[in-house]
Amino acid sequence: MTAPLRLGIAGLGTVGVGVVKIIRQKANMLADRSGRPIVITAVSARSRDKDRGVPLSDYAWEDDPIALAQRDDVDVFVELMGGSEGTAREATEAALAAGKDVVTANKALLAIHGHELAIAAEKVDRVIRFEAAVAGGIPVVKALTEGLAGNDITRIMGVMNGSCNYILTRMQNAGLTYEEVFEEANQLGYLEADPNLDVGGIDAGHKLALLSAIAYGTKVDFEGVELEGIQRVTIEDIEQAADMGYRIKLLGVAQRTGRGLEQRMSPCLVPSDSPLGQLEGGTNMVVIEGDEVGQIVLRGAGAGEGPTASAVLSDIVDIARGTRLATFGKPAEGLEAATSATSSASAPYYLRLELLDKPGALAQIATELGEAGISIDRMRQYGHAAQTAPVLIVTHKTTRSAIEDAIVGFKKTAVLASDPVAIRIEAV
Ligand code: NAP
Ligand code: HSE
Repeated sequence: MTAPLRLGIAGLGTVGVGVVKIIRQKANMLADRSGRPIVITAVSARSRDKDRGVPLSDYAWEDDPIALAQRDDVDVFVELMGGSEGTAREATEAALAAGKDVVTANKALLAIHGHELAIAAEKVDRVIRFEAAVAGGIPVVKALTEGLAGNDITRIMGVMNGSCNYILTRMQNAGLTYEEVFEEANQLGYLEADPNLDVGGIDAGHKLALLSAIAYGTKVDFEGVELEGIQRVTIEDIEQAADMGYRIKLLGVAQRTGRGLEQRMSPCLVPSDSPLGQLEGGTNMVVIEGDEVGQIVLRGAGAGEGPTASAVLSDIVDIARGTRLATFGKPAEGLEAATSATSSASAPYYLRLELLDKPGALAQIATELGEAGISIDRMRQYGHAAQTAPVLIVTHKTTRSAIEDAIVGFKKTAVLASDPVAIRIEAV
């Protein structure tokens, strides 16, 4: 066997401890598969004294992850601390400058600084691998970079934030409000330290931007992702959308159109009986469409110790085997900036309106839709005791701007009892 591959692991939280456990428990299997032993030489975290449930005394300890990244006895710097700035970024830059390969699970870092880091890696002939950064245990980076390399990717779609999918499915199954389930998820430790990263769609937007860069051969462009979180999704929307045959998902969609690269992460309706519609709890799903392969669907755990560490090990084993891939699938120097396009593709929309219960109210809404060039596919009015009437409308295909025009028109009618809700229905 050739010389061992020596790892320095910075970050011994959920993912870092998972990686240490796999390397300890499966050393022989990993060596067989890699053709060389994989060993940990040094580790780092903030608190040296914390009991992490795994023996660490075999490894050198560094208080400073940058010093860890620069050690002579480290070949691969494994960054599992998190955060787009500060120590994670500085230590990753230091590792590349010291000639180390990098494996990371840090989607925030790569979504924002991925291009500069990829350039820095190329300059010193090193690699950066990030399978665990997107959809946890699902090998979607590998699928796009390697398995689908012979395809023009026509569309990527997915549910890539387990916490949001947990919140939305729990609201639906238990009939609870967003606020109640948010609190529950927070208590269970499902949310990031800054929960807005999850519920604001930012974490999932980071992941979508990384997949887009690989799929479309462009510089990673998180700024170009149209973002909307799930904070305004109500239990009424969930229940009434279900009544019309839909589920609400925080759905990411990336596609290249004649106008440029469209990337959006927003609540969408999908048919209840579709694979995305049936996705429960913290599970992730990524749907990739290629011109040769057609559609493939990848489904699995998007987070957690075992699944995320599994993805980190896939990158480590690749490096041990000698597989050298460009960070985003092709040389970073050749990546062009994406022309970012706001989504213009037409789609049916779900509208939920609370109307004053008086003669002609619905007729006025129908008139405004007609004036905005929007045709109604289906409509439902619910029984009610109060002075207002809940009305659901599913439109035929239309554009976001036509929907916005219609909403401006609705507001002029004086028959609205509250702000209308409009959610795109995605063809999946
Ligand atoms: P975590 O449980 O919060 O662990 C973070 C670790 O980093 C801790 O051990 C912490 O040390 C250490 N750390 C943080 N800042 C540090 C600093 N300045 N210097 C030294 N050590 C520092 O986080 P995690 O859930 O394992 O996530 C790690 C990375 O994986 C993040 O980028 C995250 O987005 C990504 N990820 C996580 C999951 C998941 O399921 N958890 C899934 C996919 C991707 P102490 O323990 O001493 O505080
Ligand atoms: N907060 C993320 C999620 C963790 O809920 O999917 C995994 O990236």
